[in-house]
Parts: sequence; structure tokens; C-alpha cells
Amino acid sequence: MHEAYQTAKTNLRNTPQRWLVTGAAGFIGSNLVEALLKLDQHVVGLDNFATGHRRNLREVEASVGREQWARFKFIEGDIRDLATCHTAVADTDYVLHQAALGSVPRSIDDPITTNAVNVGGFLNMLVAARDQQVRRFVYAASSSTYGDHEALPKVEHRIGNPLSPYAVTKYADELYADVFGRAYGFQSIGLRYFNVFGPRQDPNSAYAAVIARWVSAMLKDEPVRIFGDGETSRDFCFIDNAVQANVLAATAPPEAAGEVYNVAVGQRTTLNDLQKTIRAELERRGIDIRSQPVHQDFRTGDVRHSLADVSKAGSLLGYEPTHAVAEGIELAMPWYLDYFRQADLSLEQHGFDRTHKVALTL
Ligand SMILES: NC(=O)c1ccc[n+]([C@@H]2O[C@H](COP(=O)([O-])OP(=O)(O)OC[C@H]3O[C@@H](n4cnc5c(N)ncnc54)[C@H](O)[C@@H]3O)[C@@H](O)[C@H]2O)c1
Repeated sequence: MHEAYQTAKTNLRNTPQRWLVTGAAGFIGSNLVEALLKLDQHVVGLDNFATGHRRNLREVEASVGREQWARFKFIEGDIRDLATCHTAVADTDYVLHQAALGSVPRSIDDPITTNAVNVGGFLNMLVAARDQQVRRFVYAASSSTYGDHEALPKVEHRIGNPLSPYAVTKYADELYADVFGRAYGFQSIGLRYFNVFGPRQDPNSAYAAVIARWVSAMLKDEPVRIFGDGETSRDFCFIDNAVQANVLAATAPPEAAGEVYNVAVGQRTTLNDLQKTIRAELERRGIDIRSQPVHQDFRTGDVRHSLADVSKAGSLLGYEPTHAVAEGIELAMPWYLDYFRQADLSLEQHGFDRTHKVALTL
């Protein structure tokens, strides 16, 4: 089981490599930094804190050893600046490019900035990585690229029309990466993430992803807002699966490069089921949930169903997801509870005793 991942990790531990993680202060980026440092790698992180947080890096520091943390260097900078990208990528073997402005609604509100970061910044990173001749450029692509194509499960070579400016930017990235392969022989791999969730996914952003938003709403006694009838479905992917995909993509043989891969579990969960799972997990921890679901209009740009076929990543990268959605929610919950406890939310009103740490350490 998970043989390819175990082998990749053992090889990295034996021969540490130099990595650049962009978006290092964000949700996925900080989890990648943490995983790489725990494998004794040398890591440079780049971020401008547009949506990421210093506390994410502090959490990484607290969770790795002191020697491991000493192998980390952070650069505060913007990928829209080519010189910054060149500086960050110097002496790098592998790039894991995560920096971008995520969220479909944000891109509908502000398509210009989304495009500048997600396409202009992406192209800067590609050029810098090509000039540096890095061994592999792995980048965050997105399931939004499937757009209005209705067939399920989603397979990599069948996509529809984009439904949002965000989806256009992520598809443009794939096109640029592909052209860099043909024009310059540059090796990249795109990972089409499907609704990744887990610790450090920002619950407080105006554009917070659904799991983070609902945990927050339930703990604050606010209504759980469901867009549409709740039968909209997604393939929710716990962060550890995404970390695995990145490590495998970076270290896979050359035949696997020049491709995009779905990164998900291959299981479909409706929004109605998701909110029940979150509620049950909180109640299991003795927290009394009073907030109720409220259905609202469908949201512009949202796709109705999303389910990944992950067999391509399985056969070419050796990817085997380790966590289904309920397990992921169980593992992520202590982080959320800790986050809201520190944010001074009055959890006692839910029967959650601040001085009683059991729920946090489960
Ligand atoms: N979370 C998901 O479910 C999901 C799904 C599909 C794709 N993605 C992609 O994965 C990547 C990481 O997403 P995330 O969920 O961790 O989001 P995030 O917002 O937590 O992380 C993105 C990071 O990029 C940084 N950043 C933004 N603009 C920057 C700039 N101009 N220069 C330098 N840094 C900049 C932000 O400050 C942030 O730390 C993004 O490319 C996103 O589009 C995420």
C-alpha cells in the first residue's frame, strides 16, 4: 500500500533536495512546507500574504524540529515581480507553485487582479524556473477547468467551457505549462485539485471554502448557508492526499511530466451530507450545535457536480489517496477548534470547556 509514496519519501530523506514552495503562507503551501521539512528537505517559501498568514508559518515552525526549521528560508514577495521569482527560484531542484488568488466568487468580483496573479504571476514563475533549469515544476491547477462539461467522473482530457474568470486563469496556466514543454523542453506537472480541505484553510476569509466556512458558522451559532438545494456534490480532498500528489509529481519519472492530473479521492459527497458529517463530528466531541441549514440561490459560476477519476494519477504517479472525507474532517477538527478558541470565540456556550483540552487533542 502507498508504495510509491513511501519510496519517494525514503529517497528524499536519504538525499535531501532543494525546494521552492510559492504560496508558502497559505493553506496548501504551508502544509507542503511542513511535510517537506519533516522529510529533512531544504525549503524556500515565497508569499506576499495576500491571503496567507504569518501564523501558518509559526504553526509549521512549532510542528517541525529545530534543525528542520533551520532548513527553511522565507521570502516575502510577489510573483507579479519577475525579479522576485528569479531570486526565489535560485538553486532550486523542485518548484511547487501554489501562489494564486483562489475562489470563484473573488474572480467574479475582481477578474483583473485574479488574472494578474494567476496568469501573469504564473508566467513569471514559469520563466524563472525555466531559466534556472529546475528539475520539475509542479503547479496547482484546478477542477474548475472542467467547467460546464457534465460527464462524471471527470477525466483529464475531457473539459468543457470555463464558468468563471478563475477557471479561465487556471486553464491558461495549463496551456502555458504545456507550451513551455514543447517550446523549451521544460518539465512541468499540473495538479487539478478538487476541493482540498484541512488544517490552516482560512475560515475567516470573505471567500472561505465551504468546510472552513461551515465549521465557523456552526461554532458561532450562525446559519449554515447552502447555495441551492444541497444536492450539489463535490469530491472533497483532505490535504494529506494533496501533499502526497505533490511529492509524487515532483519525483515521478520524466514520462509522467508534461501532463495534468486529477487530485481528489474519487468519492462524491453532497453538500447536505457534508453539513451532516461536520455537525456529527462536532457533536461527537461534545459540542452542542444549534445552527440550522438555510438554503439560498445557486451561486454564479458554481458547477453542479464534481467527481474525479483519479486513475491517471494512480497509474502514472503511483498516487493512492489515504483519507476519505469523513476521516479528513475528523483530523482537521482539532485545528478548527483550536483556531476558534484562540480567536476567543465563546465555545463554552456550546458545552465546550476552554480548559478541557481533550477535544483538541483527540
Ligand atoms: N484549496 C482548494 O480547494 C483548491 C482547489 C483548486 C486549486 N487550488 C489552488 O491551490 C493553490 C493554493 O490554494 P490554497 O487553498 O492554499 O489558497 P491560499 O489562499 O490559502 O494560498 C494561496 C497563497 O498564495 C499567496 N499569494 C497570493 N497572491 C500572491 C502573489 N501575488 N505573490 C505571492 N504569493 C501570493 C497567498 O498569500 C496565499 O498564502 C492556489 O493556486 C489555488 O488556486 C486550491
